[in-house]
Amino acid sequence: MIISPSILSADFSKLEQQLQTVEKSKAKWIHIDVMDGHFVKNITFGIDIFKAVKRSTSLFTDVHFVISNPEYYADIFINEGADGITFHLDAVDDVDRNLKLIKYIKSHDVQAGITLRPETPVTEYLPYLKEADLVLVMSIEPGFGGQKFRKDAVEKIRWLYEIRKKEKYNYLIQVDGGINQETGKLCAQAGADVLVSGSYVFKNDIIKAVDSFFE
Ligand code: DX5
Ligand code: ZN
Repeated sequence: MIISPSILSADFSKLEQQLQTVEKSKAKWIHIDVMDGHFVKNITFGIDIFKAVKRSTSLFTDVHFVISNPEYYADIFINEGADGITFHLDAVDDVDRNLKLIKYIKSHDVQAGITLRPETPVTEYLPYLKEADLVLVMSIEPGFGGQKFRKDAVEKIRWLYEIRKKEKYNYLIQVDGGINQETGKLCAQAGADVLVSGSYVFKNDIIKAVDSFFE
């Protein structure tokens, strides 16, 4: 199981210190939500904060684009060393363009992830599953941390797990939103490989909260 603490819920006045604490935990990734105030009603981090994160940690940088224009920003984050970029298929809504972006990201040795808003039918994932390195199931409406886990995510994880097995695909299954020890367990049992967790990790003792996913 890979744990990817989401810095959306970190204390930004001591971000470097918090990242160093995460490094001491069992987490291997760090999740960075880039929001533009357009695709969702929240604005978070741009490239300068991302660069500061890169300077502060050697964890795998798991960038989640919650933005309307992933094609434009992909290059900027690739150039600054993003290790994985996950974007919303429902931001562009054009199969050819989305496939092109997945291939573009991968051609730079960056992991390409895809995701959908929770209300978008999961079948929208289908044209991309062969190519994607990671498929993210949103278990909340994207935009803000601290929301309640949507149980319909568990079915979606199971569905992605079964397709991967049947078709021999390679993507990792990630889940994001309302993840704590209890909901994390449900997702892990359904087949999730990567758990994103924001408020549960950063509003508690960071090391203990991360380690609780391995109990
Ligand atoms: C919300 C973000 C999440 C957020 C999750 O749109 O994608 O990564 O940080 O926060 P929690 O774990 O508090 O639900
Ligand atoms: Zn996220």
